[in-house]
Amino acid sequence: MNNFKAKVLESAQAAPGIFKIKFSAPALAAGAKPGRFLEVLCTGPNAPFLRRPFGIHDVEGGAVYFIFKKTGRGTELLSNLKPGDFIDVTAPLGNGFEIQKTKEHLLAAGGMGAAPLLLLARRIKESGQTCKIFLAARAGAEIICADEFKKYGEVFISAEDGAKGEKCMIDAPLERALKEAKNAALYACGSVGMLRCVAGLGAKYKVNTQVSLEEKMACGMGVCQGCPVEVKNKDTKYKMVCKDGPVFNAEDIVW
Ligand SMILES: Cc1cc2nc3c(=O)[nH]c(=O)nc-3n(C[C@H](O)[C@H](O)[C@H](O)COP(=O)(O)OP(=O)(O)OC[C@H]3O[C@@H](n4cnc5c(N)ncnc54)[C@H](O)[C@@H]3O)c2cc1C
Ligand code: FES
Repeated sequence: MNNFKAKVLESAQAAPGIFKIKFSAPALAAGAKPGRFLEVLCTGPNAPFLRRPFGIHDVEGGAVYFIFKKTGRGTELLSNLKPGDFIDVTAPLGNGFEIQKTKEHLLAAGGMGAAPLLLLARRIKESGQTCKIFLAARAGAEIICADEFKKYGEVFISAEDGAKGEKCMIDAPLERALKEAKNAALYACGSVGMLRCVAGLGAKYKVNTQVSLEEKMACGMGVCQGCPVEVKNKDTKYKMVCKDGPVFNAEDIVW
């Protein structure tokens, strides 16, 4: 884990209210593991004191991307970044996804949960395999990165409002794929409700299921004990999402 200042190379609105930042970080880009995250200091008037966490979204040469939804003051300030600005970044943090030795890789994203899964899809493709990607959201307008994911595998879109793809929740297309799959692994990121549902399907079809959890964070490195998640473990009742996660085996979590 390092703390460094990085030059913003690109800043763009990827969709309404959603912003993508590309910054220069050759060392981070070289070893970036999907599912690990950054903490970014937000600067400007009324900036929050605490850094804000974002998944590593993608890498390109010596550059790293993160993508975020504007939800409060911190992300509002980050949405104003321009090429040439500098950001203060702590990274890489957390553990990341482990790519399993299986025939099929099924990636399940709920809304902004797609953010860390793009790099995972890229790494799976780089290892000579393909994946199926399930992008789901309440509203079709919240589906992100569908075109980028298409480079790495077949994409299934579902939105509860029916504005894009199939009008349903993620469980319907995901369960169809699990029924057909001979030997699969599941990787998911999204809201707790969506992850609980994916964990249930993973258990039903007996496939390795990794989930990336979100919790409000302060230190981001296991010191403040501010991001606990209850686990099924005889030695400890809680683990820290920032240090022990954010990726956990779904069967280890008390849902
Ligand atoms: C490991 C990790 C990775 C993340 N990756 C991404 C990402 O790639 N893209 C992205 O858009 N967001 C991501 N998030 C969530 C992101 O960190 C928050 O949206 C951000 O910190 C909000 O900051 P803010 O100052 O704009 O909003 P705040 O004013 O802090 O909060 C605005 C609203 O967002 C809610 N919120 C704040 N933090 C979180 C959180 N961690 N989880 C759920 N709700 C929260 C608050 O309850 C409040 O309702 C991630 C969170 C974690 C823990
Ligand atoms: S944020 Fe401090 S322990 Fe996780």
